[in-house]
Amino acid sequence: MSESDKEKQKIYYPNPELATNARIKSMDTYKEMWKKSVDNPREFWAEEAKMVTFSEPYKEVWTGSTPEDFVGKWFQGGKLNVCYNCVDRWVEKGYGNEKSLVWIGEDDTVKNYTFKALQDEVSKTANALKELGVKKGDRVCLWLPMISELAVTMLACARIGAIHSIVFGGFSASSVKDRIDDSDCTVLVVADEVRRSGKARPMKKNLEGIIETCPSIEHVAVVKVTGGDVWKYEKDVDFTALVEKQSIECPCEPMDSEDVLFILYTSGTTGKPKGVVHTTAGFLVYGMSTNKYVWDYSCLIDLKGVEPKDRDVWYCTADIGWITGHTQIIYSPLALGAITVMYEGVPTWPHKGRFWEICEKYGVTHFYTAPTAIRALMRFGDAEVNKWNLEKLKMLGTVGEVCNWPEWKWYWDVVGKGSGGEKPVGRPIVDSYWQTETGSYMMVNLGAITPMKPGSCTFPYFGINPVLLNEEGEKNTEPMTQSYFAYDMPWPGLMRTVWGDHDRFVQTYLTKFPGHYFTGDYAQIDAEGYYFILGRSDDVIKVSGHRLGSAEVEAAINSHPKVAESAVCPYPHSMKGSTIFAYITLMQGVEKAEELKAEIVAHVRSVAGPTVKPEIIMFSDALPKTRSGKIMRRVLKAIATMADIGDVMTLSNPEVVQHLIDERAKLG
Ligand code: WT7
Repeated sequence: MSESDKEKQKIYYPNPELATNARIKSMDTYKEMWKKSVDNPREFWAEEAKMVTFSEPYKEVWTGSTPEDFVGKWFQGGKLNVCYNCVDRWVEKGYGNEKSLVWIGEDDTVKNYTFKALQDEVSKTANALKELGVKKGDRVCLWLPMISELAVTMLACARIGAIHSIVFGGFSASSVKDRIDDSDCTVLVVADEVRRSGKARPMKKNLEGIIETCPSIEHVAVVKVTGGDVWKYEKDVDFTALVEKQSIECPCEPMDSEDVLFILYTSGTTGKPKGVVHTTAGFLVYGMSTNKYVWDYSCLIDLKGVEPKDRDVWYCTADIGWITGHTQIIYSPLALGAITVMYEGVPTWPHKGRFWEICEKYGVTHFYTAPTAIRALMRFGDAEVNKWNLEKLKMLGTVGEVCNWPEWKWYWDVVGKGSGGEKPVGRPIVDSYWQTETGSYMMVNLGAITPMKPGSCTFPYFGINPVLLNEEGEKNTEPMTQSYFAYDMPWPGLMRTVWGDHDRFVQTYLTKFPGHYFTGDYAQIDAEGYYFILGRSDDVIKVSGHRLGSAEVEAAINSHPKVAESAVCPYPHSMKGSTIFAYITLMQGVEKAEELKAEIVAHVRSVAGPTVKPEIIMFSDALPKTRSGKIMRRVLKAIATMADIGDVMTLSNPEVVQHLIDERAKLG
C-alpha cells in the first residue's frame, strides 16, 4: 500500500475539546439516541419540535399509519409562522440588539443586522409585497443575486404566508419563465443589475421579450443594486422605493403546519424541472434539529455558557438559489438564533483568499462549502490560506458531491491544520449528504464526536433509516457492494409533493422501491458501517456540485436550428467533478464544422444560463437507441470515457456504436 493509500484509510478524529462542551458527547450516546429515534420517531420529533414556537399547539406529531408511509402529515393541527420563529421571537425574548444576519458585499460593504433591524426590514418588505397584492398562498418568484434583499424578501414572504420560488441567479431568463409559469407566480422580484467581480452585469434587462409571455405576472418588482436604467414595462415597480416608504408594523400570518413554505425547482431524470414543495413546520423542525446537533454551535436556543454577543459564527458559502442557501444560510440558523454570514461575491475576487479573509475578519467558527470550491481554492496554493488567521475555526464542512481524497486532505491539513500521525486529530470536516428533496442533512457526521473516514458521509442523522438495495429491491448486506440508496421511513423535512403534479412525486421517489424513498444515488457501506456515496444512478449530472438534468440540457441544445438531436452525459473533470459531454446529430446537410461547436455552446448559455455549458461536443451521425426508441445512455457514458461498452444486443442500431467509438478516438 502506498503512503497516501495508508493515510486515506486512517480514521480521523475531531479535536477532543469539542466533545467536552458538545450537546452529544459520545458515539455511544449517538448510537443510543439514533436507535430510539428510529424505533420511536414520534417521540424523537416531538422533543425536537419543542424548539419551535407554535401559536397553536399541534395535535399529532405524525399522521402516517405505517412506518413506510411517506405522505403522512407532520405536526398536524398546529399553527406557526416561520419568520416569527427566525426573527420576531428573538426580539420578544430581549435579543433585539444581538446580531443575526451578517451580509458582506463583494466591495466589503457590511450590513450587520440585529434581530430588531431584520424584523423592521422584513416587515417593510412584507408590507410592500402586500401593496403589490400578494396574499397568503400566492407564489412570488425571486430571481436575485446574493444581495441582502434576497434574504429579507424570502423572510417577508414567509411572514405573510406567500410561497417563494427562488431561481438561482446563474440561470437564464427563460428558465425563470418556465418556473414562473409552472407555479403561476404573480410577482417577480429581480435586481436591476448584478455586481460581479467589480463590474455591473445586466439582470432585469435579460427578461426582455420573455416576461411579456408570462401571463400570471402582475408586477415586476425591481431591486436597485447599481441604479442602472432598466425601466421598460407598465408592470415594472421600483421595489426599493416601495419598501422604503412602508411601515415597520406587519403581523406574522399564522400558518398551518403543513402549509407550503416554499417551492424550489430541481432537475430530475426526465422532462422539465420539478417544483419541490417544502412545508412550514416539518421543514423548520428538521432544519433546526440537524443544524443544532451536527454543528453544535452556540446560539440563542442554547448558548452553551457563552454570552449572546459571543455566539459562534456560522458561514455557509452556498448561493441562496440552491436548497443549501435556503436551509443552511437562512431558515435553520436564524430559527436557532445563530449568527449567519452571507457573502455576495465569488471566492476569487478581489483576491484568491476571499473566503479565508472573511473567516478571519468576521471570526467565523463554522465554515461550510462545497468540494468544487475546495478544489478551486486548493489550486491557488497554501500561501493564500496561510496569510489569514483561521484560529477561530472549530469545524469545517462540505456538501454537494463526494469530497475526494486530494481535496479532503488539503482541507484537513491546510485549512483545518489537522495533525498527521497514527491517530490524526484536528478540526472536523462535516461531510453532509442530502438533497433538495430531503430538506436538510440525511447522512452526516456529528462534527464534535464522529470519527471520520475521508470521502464518507459516515452515519445517518436521527430518525433516518438508510437502506442499500439491489435491482430487485432486496437489501444488500454485503460490505462494499454498489447499491441503490434509499430510506425506509419518513422524516419531517422530506418534500411533500411536486408542485401541481403529485403523481410525479410518487413516480419519481416512491415507486421504484415500494415502501422506500429512493434518492437516485448509488452507495455502499464498509465493514464498520460507514456509508460512501458513489454518485447518481440516473441522468442527473453534477457540474461543480450544481444539479443539472440531461433532459433540460438536451432541450437547450436541440433548440439550436442546426441541431437535429442530442444526448448528454457526465464526463470526469478535475475541478468541476463532472462536466457535460454532448453527442450532437446535425440537421441534414449541415456541415460538421468546429465553429459550429462554439456557436452551439453560446446558444446553450443564452437559453439555459451560464452554468449550463457543454464542455466537449462530438458530432455524430446517429445515437444508440433501444428498440423502443430510448437513447441508451449507459453506452454513451462508456464511449465518452473510453470505457468498456458492455452488452449492446438490445440496440436497434448497434452499427452506430463503432462509428461513435471512431469519432471519440479522433477527439483525443
Ligand atoms: C445530490 C443532491 C443538498 C445540498 C446540495 C445538493 C449529491 C449531495 C453529497 C455528499 C456525495 C452528495 C448526491 C445527491 N450529493 N451531497 N456529501 N456526498 N454526494 O443538493 O442539488 O439536490 O443534489 O447531490 O448525488 O443526490 P441537490
